[in-house]
Amino acid sequence: MTKENENSVLLVGATGYLGSLVAAGLLCEGYRIVAPLRQSHTRQSFINKLKSDLAAEEVNAEIDFDRLTTISLPPVQEIPDLTAELHALGVNEIIHCAGSVDYFDTEKLKAVNIDLTNSLLTLGKQLQIKRFAYLSTAFSSGFIDGLVREILHQQQPKADPTEYTKSKREAEALVSNSGLPFLIIRPSIVIGDSRKGHYNGKPYGLYQLWAAFVKFLCGHSRNVFHFIAPSEKLHLIHQDAFKAGFIAACKQLPDNSIVHLTSRHETLPTFVELVQQWSAIWDVKEVHCYKDASEIPATGIDRRTKMWLDFTAVNTDIAAHPWQFQTAGLDQLRLAGLKFRDVTLDTVRVCQDHFIAHSQRAQALLKKDKDGLSAAAKSANSNIPKKIASGVS
Ligand SMILES: NC(=O)c1ccc[n+]([C@@H]2O[C@H](COP(=O)([O-])OP(=O)(O)OC[C@H]3O[C@@H](n4cnc5c(N)ncnc54)[C@H](OP(=O)(O)O)[C@@H]3O)[C@@H](O)[C@H]2O)c1
Repeated sequence: MTKENENSVLLVGATGYLGSLVAAGLLCEGYRIVAPLRQSHTRQSFINKLKSDLAAEEVNAEIDFDRLTTISLPPVQEIPDLTAELHALGVNEIIHCAGSVDYFDTEKLKAVNIDLTNSLLTLGKQLQIKRFAYLSTAFSSGFIDGLVREILHQQQPKADPTEYTKSKREAEALVSNSGLPFLIIRPSIVIGDSRKGHYNGKPYGLYQLWAAFVKFLCGHSRNVFHFIAPSEKLHLIHQDAFKAGFIAACKQLPDNSIVHLTSRHETLPTFVELVQQWSAIWDVKEVHCYKDASEIPATGIDRRTKMWLDFTAVNTDIAAHPWQFQTAGLDQLRLAGLKFRDVTLDTVRVCQDHFIAHSQRAQALLKKDKDGLSAAAKSANSNIPKKIASGVS
């Protein structure tokens, strides 16, 4: 990777959740970055975001923002026209963290995950870069049996959880077939910081579940709650682990590597355990967990709860698959000294507490409801729901 006084990294998607973690990590390590920004950002708003992310992490290092150059991102077909400008800025490496995680909007997925990637690869060839690093996802294989290996996916999956995973698999193929030296980094679902619980991303994954729960259900009866909650482990990583793992992979792994950034399987909580831990806050009398949508009883569930179960079905579909990831690359990085804190039920609790403490809606609900207030004051362990049922009650 390039260092100060040498050359620069073109970091695309630097304003996103994961891209800004990468940007902050690179700057802290002394790298020079060129970040193309879309119209909704300015150089100053981007720097402010980086500063506030670093403050949340309590990183006090002096960052020299002179090492950050921002330019306007042109329309996708004009990106290769940046060659001369980027050459003059010393760009000899591209890190591509832009992406769409929309599950179903195939046009948007094509525009961002395929067309943008193709255009950046053309630019990379014209610049004769040393390496093209691509931020993919651990779930890009789609639903396949057995171990997901750290190679380009060879087989067509039985099915894809969403159009999104398919588009990421296609983008990986474009990168690896481009002829450029490459690195593909595949994180699992990223959640908040393992130490403080703060989370800088959009409300996806667990955060979507928590936010939706508070919005749709909490003003109503707390007697009985229903969840689709598979008994499989949920593949989560903390954002601090993502950042450390991503930077270490860029610095240490050889060209043409593919690496999974995932927590150790044995430490991960199951979805059922996460539901149990979450329900404990709300003093729920009864929690019903279904392995999948087919287990939901046809009668006895109100319309509101049905909407809730429909809304969460896609994520729980992904969670129900018994994912197993090869982690040879990460094991190698850990052996070389990488501190990568695995997700456990307790570390999710840290993120959950942070979410509750910063959700006005959750706070209002807990305040309003005396039971909720007293429940919040109790420890999770002493407040396990009276009954956790599995399957049809
Ligand atoms: N978040 C996770 O848990 C997770 C886990 C595994 C893999 N990933 C992968 O990481 C990637 C980034 O995820 P994220 O959570 O950081 O998403 P995010 O916060 O939505 O960031 C997306 C980034 O892509 C940029 N972008 C979107 N559309 C673009 C376009 N048409 N042209 C140029 N730039 C565009 C955005 O720019 P603006 O700021 O201007 O909108 C932003 O910088 C995704 O591709 C996803 O596959 C994410």
